[in-house]
Amino acid sequence: MTQINLGVIIGSVRLNRATIRPAKAFIQQAENQFKTLITLDLLNLDLPMYDESHPKVEQKFLEAIKPCEALILIFPEYNYRPSPAILNALDYFRNYELKNKVLGLISVSNGNFGGVRAQMVMRASLPTFGCYLTSNTVTIQNVNKTFPLEGENDPIYKEKFQKLIEEVIQLTSKLNPKL
Ligand SMILES: Cc1cc2nc3c(=O)[nH]c(=O)nc-3n(C[C@H](O)[C@H](O)[C@H](O)COP(=O)(O)O)c2cc1C
Repeated sequence: MTQINLGVIIGSVRLNRATIRPAKAFIQQAENQFKTLITLDLLNLDLPMYDESHPKVEQKFLEAIKPCEALILIFPEYNYRPSPAILNALDYFRNYELKNKVLGLISVSNGNFGGVRAQMVMRASLPTFGCYLTSNTVTIQNVNKTFPLEGENDPIYKEKFQKLIEEVIQLTSKLNPKL
């Protein structure tokens, strides 16, 4: 167990969303490897479209991620880009909320590419926040086959999740030597 606080942002808010299944599997695998793991499920947070007129909602969301030295964003690919929910959540961050935090990405799709195109969009945009992206990344393909049931993990993805977790820990420890 490390002294790192991890936040996991779930970026799918659709009825019957598939992303919740790998998200829960990841959380279950990661939670005893971090000091704390907080889940920020955008479905429950009900963030309005960003327009600066909801200071209470904004504050609650930003306060929740403040103590996290690292974040995992898990989101589906819609039309070759990240879901509107995760993109909207990112708009709540200005140029310092993510500064020096470590970010790992997990994209989800029910196709063969696992949301890799959505990942490329994220990778092009996230550096603007001054955060550090891991080189390991997870693209979950054919989610209805690889994660058919809630509460189950897929052995191949278990290994991929672990590589991501280990890099998050390594990079965060380097950036926060006091932890
Ligand atoms: C609006 C919309 C757009 C989609 N676009 C893509 C796409 O670009 N690439 C892809 O592989 N799958 C695409 N899909 C299929 C998703 O991979 C599949 O619905 C998956 O379950 C999405 O995750 P979710 O259930 O958590 O929303 C799309 C689905 C929706 C609803």
